[in-house]
Amino acid sequence: MDNYLEINRANWDSRVEHHLKGYDLDKFRSDPAFLSYVVKFDKERLGNIEGLDIVHLQCHIGTDTLSLARLGAKSITGVDFSPNALLAAKNLASELGIEATFVESTVDDAVSTLDNKKFDMVYTGIGALCWLPDIKKWAKVVSSLLHPGGRLFIREGHPVLWALSYERTDGLLSLEYNYFETEGLSFIEEKSYVDHEGAVSSPESISFNHGLGEIITALINEGMTITAFEEHDSVPYRALDDLMDDIGNGEFRLRENPERLPVSYTLQARKN
Ligand SMILES: C[S@@+](CC[C@H](N)C(=O)[O-])C[C@H]1O[C@@H](n2cnc3c(N)ncnc32)[C@H](O)[C@@H]1O
Repeated sequence: MDNYLEINRANWDSRVEHHLKGYDLDKFRSDPAFLSYVVKFDKERLGNIEGLDIVHLQCHIGTDTLSLARLGAKSITGVDFSPNALLAAKNLASELGIEATFVESTVDDAVSTLDNKKFDMVYTGIGALCWLPDIKKWAKVVSSLLHPGGRLFIREGHPVLWALSYERTDGLLSLEYNYFETEGLSFIEEKSYVDHEGAVSSPESISFNHGLGEIITALINEGMTITAFEEHDSVPYRALDDLMDDIGNGEFRLRENPERLPVSYTLQARKN
């Protein structure tokens, strides 16, 4: 899987034209107080972020990044390896009149691309860690981007969710894919996770799962203290097709006995 970066960059570049229509951008344009559902979900957990320098890893088209700016961050820097996503993010920021910096970089190279700059908060999540082959490297990047006392804030899809088959039609939940970190798995998917017409032009992607213990241990080994950890029964995309209900505010939950399954989590950590 040496070429996972090229395959995934082409995949993400090709999703952007569809996401421009599926990410509720008109709501950002018409209401200056509108926040992405992802950021709104965690608003209380984020607390007061006014005056913070924040870096958003894997910022995609900038909807969460710009929502953090709307909550009062002093500076906001979005990092992503997809030129198409960054162009969309820059256009949206200028349309909304929000000052933000968007930088093209892989996560692995983020520390050097950002000239070793330190931040008060690293924010990331919802479909971020699954594109990275090595969770220890990610934890090192997170820690290196923070001042002592700085925070990591991540809400992410749960690794148990990502180990389930999402294509079953019999209503059963079935463990099909890896839970622990292993070699990447190749998927061919013509549709992205927003409703859209037509197919994405680069449908192949390579993804990687990481167990919760692997994620938490990697952070601890990089000098981070875990300060909060919650598992949720909802996730902000229709991860299990017809098995999930839209429960409003952009969240989706298992229809039958949702208490069976954690589908996302919010984790916070502080750099010692
Ligand atoms: C699902 S989005 C996550 C963003 C956010 N949750 C959202 O919905 O706006 C995943 C992002 O990760 C980026 N990405 C994937 N692999 C990456 C890597 N190795 N380095 C930097 N960005 C990467 C993709 O370009 C994409 O924009």
